[in-house]
Amino acid sequence: MRPQVEAFLDPDTETWSYVVFEGTGGHAAVIDPVLDYDPKAGRTSTAGAQRLVDFVKRHNLNVDWVLETHAHADHLSAAPFVRDQVGGRLAIGEHIREVQETFREVFNLEKEFLCDGSQFDHLFSDGETFSVGELEGRVIHVPGHTPADMAWLIGDALFVGDTLFMPDGGTARCDFPGGDAGTLYRSIQKLLALPEQTRVFVCHDYPGDRREYACQTTVGEQKHHNIHIRDGVSEAEFVRMREARDATLEMPRLILPSVQVNVRGGNMPPPEGNGVSYLKIPVNRL
Ligand SMILES: [Fe+2]
Repeated sequence: MRPQVEAFLDPDTETWSYVVFEGTGGHAAVIDPVLDYDPKAGRTSTAGAQRLVDFVKRHNLNVDWVLETHAHADHLSAAPFVRDQVGGRLAIGEHIREVQETFREVFNLEKEFLCDGSQFDHLFSDGETFSVGELEGRVIHVPGHTPADMAWLIGDALFVGDTLFMPDGGTARCDFPGGDAGTLYRSIQKLLALPEQTRVFVCHDYPGDRREYACQTTVGEQKHHNIHIRDGVSEAEFVRMREARDATLEMPRLILPSVQVNVRGGNMPPPEGNGVSYLKIPVNRL
């Protein structure tokens, strides 16, 4: 089974979103759609996500799922907008509940905020299967970057979220609340155990001036060439490298607005008495 995959880059946050589909007129899943957000003005826009919606409509696709690999810390999710426009069930990994607990405390969210994942239509567990029309999907729990990360294997296409980047980009950071480098190492071994020709689609790419943006590689290329975790790198070596590197990284520019929206399934906080939603900034907390 070889699904077709259309990739969409959000240049502002260097995020890749995907439409995975059987073919024109067939079934589809949308993965990690991005809501544009201007932090200077506190203004959102659906212009970027509209590209995915337009693609779905142009190809007459029947969207079964809108999938989030995890609660992103670098961009806001456009999943509610995409679902409103083209349908599909919004899903994330079941460990989102732990992430919700963490950020309910960080942001002192309202009493009515539930940490039960009910903001999503479905919570997936490790090993669960699903279908996108005739395509078979399987969920692989890959904690380490956050506790809730899931990789989606649809046919021969593996959507790795924030675990592996392109081979020359290495791996995702592990210093967010609930992150752990050793856990990420063991999660990535599950992905690298898949057939070498499995197509790998990354959630981010940070090429700088080295090369053009890229989104697609293979399990084999990762095993042989990933600069952080290719064959032969031990867990201890990886953890040492990952923790030293994480200690040098700044927080992502949009982490504060992103996580408080994304634990709500991409919805804004309830509006206040004047009808306006407000995002919070916890001072000296992160
Ligand atoms: Fe992430």
